[in-house]
Amino acid sequence: MRTVVRLLGALALALLGACGSSAPDGGDNAEPLPHTDAPPAPLRLAADRAGLRWGAAVSAQPLREDADYRALAAGQFNTLTTENALKFSVVQPAPGVYDFRDADLIAAFARAHGQKLRGHVLVWHNQLPDWLASGTFTRDELIALMRDYIHTVLGHFRRHHADVVLEWDVVNEAFEADGSRRPSIWQRVIGDDYVELAFRFAHEAWPGLPLYYNDFEENTFVILESKIALDGSPQLTRPSGIGATPLLSDCGLIPKCAAIRDLATTLVAAGVPIHGIGWQAHIASVAAPDYQKLSEWIEPLGLRWALTELDAPCPLGPLDDATCHALQAQTFASAARDCIESPACDTVIQWGVHDGYTWWPGLSFGLFGEALAFDADGQPKPAAAALLPLFEAAAR
Ligand code: XIL
Repeated sequence: MRTVVRLLGALALALLGACGSSAPDGGDNAEPLPHTDAPPAPLRLAADRAGLRWGAAVSAQPLREDADYRALAAGQFNTLTTENALKFSVVQPAPGVYDFRDADLIAAFARAHGQKLRGHVLVWHNQLPDWLASGTFTRDELIALMRDYIHTVLGHFRRHHADVVLEWDVVNEAFEADGSRRPSIWQRVIGDDYVELAFRFAHEAWPGLPLYYNDFEENTFVILESKIALDGSPQLTRPSGIGATPLLSDCGLIPKCAAIRDLATTLVAAGVPIHGIGWQAHIASVAAPDYQKLSEWIEPLGLRWALTELDAPCPLGPLDDATCHALQAQTFASAARDCIESPACDTVIQWGVHDGYTWWPGLSFGLFGEALAFDADGQPKPAAAALLPLFEAAAR
């Protein structure tokens, strides 16, 4: 007998709070730079030729310790982003104490391998240090703290790494699924204008740096369905959802998307320095949404959009991997094609380097994983094979 458990987006994302990052680890500025001589692979070369930013979220620890990870991170991608190295709890673990060791290492790795770097993330409700999350602040104090943090982080990167930096996620996940503001410490203590203030401070700190609002699309999470046997073993689920609820791609029909659109419209009208919208693209649904349709309001506002955290999890266990990996390839290709075909998008970042490092098992009690285009041995999966002809066609 089996029970059917639905992992709703709200539940899944609520778990994030429990997934803290580890404390900043060893090394200092004299730390030797991890390097690899791996030649650029066809996927990276095709992305380069197409003027496409094809990237991966990386972590400092495996860059230090895992030569295969380094070879893949440098060989397959022309862009990197910081999976956790620029989260508040890593960067300012104690009041006034800044730690850029992990972020500096990632920036130096990108530089050494001719890659660009997306900065992620300045103002978010998760991965805050305890002193901040459980602190008591007045509105003015928290505004001053946020301004100081943004100036310090962007000031550091502007001084040391301006040559590699592409753009930055300034505010992440400000909305709930129903389009209301998420009651983060920023929202509760500062109020609605924390978003506008964050963008203004970022622009003050680094004029000319493209600044993004980043969020997950909500609809990509809700169809995730997991059959769990009574003995606890997960059963194949992703393909079973075929033909279920169609994915919405009309922004006006998705309350969170409508709220993001209204916010961006208001910010642009008020002259607030915002330059793009990042769709996280954690696609747990059986198909990708139509990102061109979802994004059709963005270009008329004079903004750009990007796929900033692309992945598509499969159920783990002794399952029909081939079916899920084939679906995953369609998902990756559909999302990437939407970006490539849009004049307002040129950036596709997958959330991790290979399946050995995807965040999904941690998020889903080990039920889901294998969410990326390379397997845990670093071998290209059908998703990578599906991207190559798209990149090659875009290069012509
Ligand atoms: C995730 C990391 O991948 C995990 O290692 C960490 O434990 C929690 O955060 N949306 C985001 C990312 O914007 O920063 C999150 O990254 C995934 C969801």
